Amino acid sequence: MADNPYKLVNEQEGLSETLGVVSGTQGPHAVDVRKLYRDTGVLTYDPGFMSTASCESRITYIDGEAGILEYRGYPIEQLAEQSTYLEVAYLLLYGDLPNRTQLQKFEQLIVYHTMLNETLKNFYDGFHHDAHPMAIMVGVVGSLSAFYHDSLDINDPKHREISAHRLFAKMPTIAAASYKHNISEPIIYPRNELSYCANFLHMMFSTPCEPYEVNPIAEKAINLLFILHADHEQNASTSTVRLAGSSQANPFACIAAGIASLWGPAHGGANEAVLDMLTEIGDVSHIDKYIAKAKDKKDKFRLMGFGHRVYKNFDPRAGILREVCKEVLEKLADNDSPLFELALRLEEIALNDDYFIQRKLYPNVDFYSGIIYRALGIPNNMFTVMFAIGRTIGWVAHWMEMMNDPEQKIGRPRQIYKGSPRREYIPIDKR
Ligand code: CMC
Repeated sequence: MADNPYKLVNEQEGLSETLGVVSGTQGPHAVDVRKLYRDTGVLTYDPGFMSTASCESRITYIDGEAGILEYRGYPIEQLAEQSTYLEVAYLLLYGDLPNRTQLQKFEQLIVYHTMLNETLKNFYDGFHHDAHPMAIMVGVVGSLSAFYHDSLDINDPKHREISAHRLFAKMPTIAAASYKHNISEPIIYPRNELSYCANFLHMMFSTPCEPYEVNPIAEKAINLLFILHADHEQNASTSTVRLAGSSQANPFACIAAGIASLWGPAHGGANEAVLDMLTEIGDVSHIDKYIAKAKDKKDKFRLMGFGHRVYKNFDPRAGILREVCKEVLEKLADNDSPLFELALRLEEIALNDDYFIQRKLYPNVDFYSGIIYRALGIPNNMFTVMFAIGRTIGWVAHWMEMMNDPEQKIGRPRQIYKGSPRREYIPIDKR
């Protein structure tokens, strides 16, 4: 590839610039345009980053055409089947699978950080009782930087690591507390003898009045969902975390920014939107009407849980979740089976429709996750929060990677200015 460099030629202006190429271990090559503006005065234009690699990374690899997702080289299918979320978290953060001792130590460290500072709990009272849990998450996670001054020197690798552990460990506690506030129940403290996922379920569903036993089927399902959501390279929220962090902002503020970005229905908010959509469709007999709406360019409606910027074949996470969804519904004898049947039928109809075939629109990770969450008793407004818990380790791993990168620079895109040319100020009584 280096022998075949790209050339930018503008004959009118007599400009010719040879551009270098950057290559990874796998995936497409990238044209290196870093010095393009300096050398030629020309910018590149790529809204939405359709063809732009914003950084080098060693964390996650996606081949969207082949439906491949790998964390640190390990296929998602193998991790989903054989690993645990804590092990995957270690892998994402440190680059390799842990041995037994490393894993045990990591688990202890995380458990040690699960509790919230007692004063932080007062923040919840500042939110209206029916505040959306994602709104609470953005505020409370951002406020962590007001509590943990002892580890906020972002130039100290030890501080960075402690902040990473704190964020990862506290996220389920913050999330469950957001839910408890939303339903006006007391906040439940973590029980550190439980696993990461079981602890979350305990904090979500137990009350001070009655004993609560974690259902192992639910624990297993959450473990898998968190593994599948753990990272997805430079998606909108991860890029937001990186961009916020590039200004040397503290990690708690960066992750709060990531949560805000995740909330949108085009990103993590899609899982909540899928359930709303399935409920609105209501019956198989209405599917055709909604497919027609999704295809109508004058209608803003899109099939939620369908399509992906990178996957143009299938989202491997969706395939795994379809099977798990079936299993969970069978085992929990939930009454959401009609919703699952509806989702299956919708998928079948859409996948045979020319509009979806031509645009390579397939179900994504969010298509089935909501049905599983609902079967586990998790309400719709917590779906995106669940995504945020699972994704926190990915955000943190990317933030750590960026902070360790000697080439790291403040993220500062340019623009094509389309506004008014220079004009003179007119005093208000003369306008
Ligand atoms: N329903 C109907 N048409 C669609 C859909 C959809 N869900 N998604 C894309 N299209 C059409 C779109 O109208 C466009 O058609 P045309 O070429 O005729 O103008 C074409 O497909 C390409 O769409 P795009 O918006 O240019 O593609 P994108 O890569 O910018 O957007 C997406 C990707 C995920 C935002 C989009 O597919 C979408 O809005 N999907 C629904 C929301 C959703 O499920 N989001 C979750 C994404 S996966 C989890 C995550 O990342 O958080």
